[in-house]
Amino acid sequence: MWAQRAGVLGWLLLLQAVPRAAGARPCSPKYFGRDSMVCVCNATYCDTLDPVVLPAPGTFVKYESSKAGKRLERSEGSFQRSLRAPDLVLTVDTTQRYQKIKGFGGSVTDSAAINILSLPEKAQDHLLRSYFSEEGLEYNLVRIPMASCDFSLHAYTYDDVPYDYELTHFSLRDEDTKLKIPILHRALAMAKRPLSLYASPWTSPAWMKTSESFIGKGTLKGQAGDKYHKTWANYFVRFLDEYAKHNLTFWAVTAENEPSAGLINNYPFQCLGFTAEQQRDFIARDLGPALANSSHRNVQLIILDDNRLHLPHWAKVVLEDEQAARYVHGIGIHWYLDFIGPIQDTVVPTHELFPDYFILATEACIGAHFWERDVILGCWERGNQYSHSILTNLNHFVAGWTDWNLALDLQGGPNWVENYVDSPVIVDSSKDVFYKQPMFYHMGHFSKFIPEGSQRVGLAVSKKCRRCELEHTAFLRPDGAVVLVVLNRSPMDVSFGISDPRVGFIEATAPSDSIQTFLWKQPA
Ligand SMILES: *[C@@H]1O[C@H](CO)[C@@H](O)[C@H](O)[C@H]1NC(C)=O
Ligand SMILES: *[C@@H]1O[C@H](CO)[C@@H](O)[C@H](O)[C@H]1NC(C)=O
Ligand SMILES: *[C@@H]1O[C@H](CO)[C@@H](O)[C@H](O)[C@H]1NC(C)=O
Repeated sequence: MWAQRAGVLGWLLLLQAVPRAAGARPCSPKYFGRDSMVCVCNATYCDTLDPVVLPAPGTFVKYESSKAGKRLERSEGSFQRSLRAPDLVLTVDTTQRYQKIKGFGGSVTDSAAINILSLPEKAQDHLLRSYFSEEGLEYNLVRIPMASCDFSLHAYTYDDVPYDYELTHFSLRDEDTKLKIPILHRALAMAKRPLSLYASPWTSPAWMKTSESFIGKGTLKGQAGDKYHKTWANYFVRFLDEYAKHNLTFWAVTAENEPSAGLINNYPFQCLGFTAEQQRDFIARDLGPALANSSHRNVQLIILDDNRLHLPHWAKVVLEDEQAARYVHGIGIHWYLDFIGPIQDTVVPTHELFPDYFILATEACIGAHFWERDVILGCWERGNQYSHSILTNLNHFVAGWTDWNLALDLQGGPNWVENYVDSPVIVDSSKDVFYKQPMFYHMGHFSKFIPEGSQRVGLAVSKKCRRCELEHTAFLRPDGAVVLVVLNRSPMDVSFGISDPRVGFIEATAPSDSIQTFLWKQPA
């Protein structure tokens, strides 16, 4: 009797004494039509995740999101000794090693910053924590435009005083000091992982350009090695200097955002044209030496930063030149013309020719094409598009994937040329809320579980697979755990097995329109 009471008392005491686990908070759903669900966050509530904890040996954890309504929902299971022979078996082979991962993330444009800061402060925190903290997606890559782009309220650069070759009038703008920099500091403070920042310019000052304009067809005046090119290279160094004064150091810069845009007549927003040859010469004679001779000599240099369609040509032109190649570390790719540039014909031969240079997806968003609607709240297929691209890239040597604007408004802006697009987070500042779309959770299935330094490993698919609609990829993390991501874009549930010869078997089902991330430990 007494013992029993003591037991109950003990339980009560225990319940009181043990602080409630941080506790993942579930999605607060809002529907915009059938199956079109977002998770709503405001100043007092936002869905969260628990930090990732590796499961005990012989067990696994699974995170699942689905069109039917799951959002990174966690469950656990145990490995088995055998499989009841499903048609499709995915066999992990950690002895086969491919590329190492740099990371996943998004971009702090002027517009993203304006949208984030339009919310009440507590809601801003929820938004940034959702992306960067351990209770969120744990992004580790952040791309930052150097001065303005189309996702700004107006066009500007850091030195619009004509013919200021010494850059004496160079200065950051309010967009940096009041918008982007404070957001970067808050993200850095809440991130557990080191953040890698990288910057990309859209246009040089108009006075350096053949067009004398921020927009339209135009390149730098003159040629590599002259005062225009030297000044433009020094502008990169000045940008890095000024951000360093705000305690922000960069992992990398890209030589130019979409250099092919500035070769197009009447291009509608900020651009600066370079052919591959012009980029090669600018890097070899101006940008490479300027960075190498500055305090930013460890900042990595990324070429292309444009549609992969330009590969492998662009990489050959730049990297077969010894003078240019010595300054270059990686190749950036955008996804907008993927449908006319298959990865097999572009990225794969580039990797085979230049295996020592990383390839990174540096920009992607949905809604940029004239046939696409700008924002479609809750659209699951747009999440699928993100995951399909990420899986395709990861399975073909790409080291990471960077989303475009971290947050946009209901229209998909602001954008000074009305080039509105969608974003994983849409802010409705009139209601003091933001919406986390399916794209947000699709990003998380990769970013949260595949940290920097993970390495893609072999994943064999059994021949018995009749309808192999599943897309998948496997990684070995630096902590020795295996991550397997499985995407089912089909309208049918697919049963499959997972085999890790070092651990055992998992019998699984990928529900129609779902994405799953499995995580388990291998014996040391
Ligand atoms: C914030 O969201 C929560 C959960 O959806 C809701 O209960 C609460 O009323 C909202 N707060 C405000 C101020 O709208
Ligand atoms: C930069 O960091 C130093 C040392 O931590 C600090 O004293 C200084 O105030 C910081 N400056 C800015 C602009 O954040
Ligand atoms: C390196 O920078 C110094 C001053 O910072 C300058 O005098 C020198 O000419 C530069 N060298 C090159 C190769 O650009």
